[in-house]
Amino acid sequence: MPELDTAAMPRHIAIIMDGNGRWAEKQGKPRLMGHQAGVKSVQNIVRAARELDIGVLTLYAFSTENWKRPPLEIQALMGLLKTFLESELATMVRNNVSLRCLGEKDRLPTEVSKIMERAIRETAENSGLILNLALSYGGRNEITQAVQAITQKCLTGILNPEVIDQAVIEQHLYTAGLPDPDLLIRTGGETRLSNFLLWQASYAELYFTEILWPDFRKQDLLIAILDFQKRQRRFGKTSEQAEQTHPH
Ligand code: FPP
Repeated sequence: MPELDTAAMPRHIAIIMDGNGRWAEKQGKPRLMGHQAGVKSVQNIVRAARELDIGVLTLYAFSTENWKRPPLEIQALMGLLKTFLESELATMVRNNVSLRCLGEKDRLPTEVSKIMERAIRETAENSGLILNLALSYGGRNEITQAVQAITQKCLTGILNPEVIDQAVIEQHLYTAGLPDPDLLIRTGGETRLSNFLLWQASYAELYFTEILWPDFRKQDLLIAILDFQKRQRRFGKTSEQAEQTHPH
């Protein structure tokens, strides 16, 4: 396998973790077992991201659309999240991981939001990997609530509409202050964004793989990063200009 270029690592990797259900169905198991196996991949990839010194890892764990799933599956997913947060908190503290939540936190069941708030609080000062869990997250919702917050500030005179620019919008997103994802991975074979990080992914390199999320491991992440490093990112410029500003 070719070597990774440690000077050209993505600062922010975002992942759409798809394929848990199909992984389980393929083995004649209930869907929930796919989600359970998916948690193992989450643990493996979080550790890999730390080892690779990635700045930010954002995982799409539950979308606003996922509320339409059967209540039992929602319950099971929320249960897995709660157990994950409870069992991983000490590890995150020890490993200098800072946990954040992107999404409609107030829609989460109380027992999940409680442990989430605690984990966020207890890891807030950590300076290592920033781990964003996108939960009850939707990109259009995120932009809509940013527009509402900005409009509110304009109405109360805190903000002059004339100064609204991309930076102001960025400051009102869940990801305020974080770098945009450089690499966005989707497992499970579909080639859609599914309402994930619509604003932030403008210039992200997209990487799609057939591998189902419960089978996705560090080795697969390395292959995705190698693919990312082979591409030349131009940000709308000519290749010559891009070589000068973003040399690989
Ligand atoms: C998509 O698979 C996956 C989800 C909707 C949930 C992702 C959740 C986890 C990996 C586990 C919990 C998360 C954390 C952070 C502990 P799917 O069910 O849509 O699969 P399918 O497309 O094959 O049906």
